[in-house]
Amino acid sequence: MKPIRLLAMLSLSAITVGIVATAMADDDRSYSGSWGTRALPGVAPVDFPLYQDECGSCHMAYQPGLLPAPSWEKLMSGLDDHFGENAELPENERRVLLNYLLNNAAGRSNYRVSNKLMRNIRGTPIRITELPYFVHEHREIPSRLVTGNPKVRSLSYCDSCHTQANMGSYNEHQINIPGYGRYDD
Ligand code: HEC
Ligand code: HEC
Repeated sequence: MKPIRLLAMLSLSAITVGIVATAMADDDRSYSGSWGTRALPGVAPVDFPLYQDECGSCHMAYQPGLLPAPSWEKLMSGLDDHFGENAELPENERRVLLNYLLNNAAGRSNYRVSNKLMRNIRGTPIRITELPYFVHEHREIPSRLVTGNPKVRSLSYCDSCHTQANMGSYNEHQINIPGYGRYDD
């Protein structure tokens, strides 16, 4: 092979190595494979007052990016028996809220936590707390701090521990479990 060509090939592969290395270094933090663009941190905050009012009275208004679209569709079609509660809405309102949820569901926006929650989902779970990534992240918390803790009650009450949950931020440095304090594992 002529020396010039070899040199050209070498520098080309050096560029390739550089690109791959950059992508890998950024991996989990900024890139999500299929999107190919920078993911934003956390999940998109709720920006719809009607949703905040109607779905934020018994528990925090869960960000749409915490569940994929088929899950929201299923959940919103069974509001008359919503985890043992009646959360029925007038049909026109239900439709408006369902549209909001579907448009902003996990898998339809590029946020880091949403992308992670989408991993390995089987079937159509209607609980965030049953998604594999969620289960994995919370599996080591002793139950006395959760169900045995009157200030938490269940993992469904995200904002009892995640101090910035209402802003869509679930950063591990912003966790404060009532009666326990900052959680460092
Ligand atoms: C009347 C009270 C009430 C209203 C109103 C209500 N919910 Fe709920 N919701 C509950 C209860 C109770 C649970 C179960 C909590 C538990 O298991 O500790 C729940 C659970 C959920 C969960 C699953 C949380 C988990 O465990 O992962 C989602 C998602 C949810 N609600 C969405 C909604 C949406 C969307 C609306 C508005 C259309 C809504 N909720 C309105 C009472 C309510
Ligand atoms: C009892 C307190 C508690 C409740 C309630 C709780 N979490 Fe967590 N969560 C934690 C702790 C502690 C960790 C960190 C685990 C670790 O670092 O080992 C965590 C980790 C996470 C992570 C991983 C952080 C990341 O950047 O990927 C996410 C996402 C998350 N929680 C979302 C939620 C959501 C959504 C809810 C409500 C449906 C919720 N959590 C309810 C305590 C809680």
